[in-house]
Amino acid sequence: MSPLFDALRRRLGWDPSFATLDPHGQRGVRLRGHREYVGGHWEEIGQLQFDFLVARGLRPEHYLLDIACGALRLGVKAIPYLEPGHYLGIEKERSLIRAGLERELPPGLRQEKRPRLLHDGNFRVWRLRQPVDVAIAQSLFTHLPPRLIGRCLARLRPWLQPEGVFYATFHEVAEARPNPGAPHDHGYFAYTRAQMEAFGREQGYEPEYIGDWHHPRGQVMVAYRPGR
Ligand SMILES: C[S@@+](CC[C@H](N)C(=O)[O-])C[C@H]1O[C@@H](n2cnc3c(N)ncnc32)[C@H](O)[C@@H]1O
Repeated sequence: MSPLFDALRRRLGWDPSFATLDPHGQRGVRLRGHREYVGGHWEEIGQLQFDFLVARGLRPEHYLLDIACGALRLGVKAIPYLEPGHYLGIEKERSLIRAGLERELPPGLRQEKRPRLLHDGNFRVWRLRQPVDVAIAQSLFTHLPPRLIGRCLARLRPWLQPEGVFYATFHEVAEARPNPGAPHDHGYFAYTRAQMEAFGREQGYEPEYIGDWHHPRGQVMVAYRPGR
């Protein structure tokens, strides 16, 4: 591949391995529907995330940030549990946020619990103006190259409370492998435990490898806490 073509395709965010994938973005959501777009297993993965967070100490008075919240698969469980205004979500696909609010959240709950949902594809957490106790990115780093994982970690860091924690899932491989250079919601990106730990340390976190948390597709979990 010529260097010029390579530079152009990087700029456009396209990777040859994407040629066989369903489209992502709004077209992809229309094609697959919001539940399938975020990976299916709707009820199971929603409950799994919620139970995991509560078992790890999530309380109603905490502020929870759901990074790449999709169509509120976790939100429909967490919003009723948390105090009003304490569920925060950030998501790049507006149509997923809309589907979550209009088709998944039981009527009345939006007014009662006032979830705060930010349409943003660049992790501009500061736009929420709210320090958070717990953050989670379920099946986000499974679709991102390292530079965007780093950006997500870096932008969250100033908004995570000193005692806060950020949980992130990833596809684990034993040895580092080449991943696509650009993000894709249906692309496959996998990292070693050491890579995931290093991404956190580079942004001032102390990583804790959690590993298996019973995800139906075998994604594993890592926790990042602000370094002292
Ligand atoms: C596999 S889905 C998981 C969604 C959600 N965490 C869940 O468990 O239902 C991945 C989500 O990441 C979102 N996403 C990907 N890149 C993003 C970015 N840069 N900023 C915000 N959301 C992003 C996608 O739009 C999609 O909703």
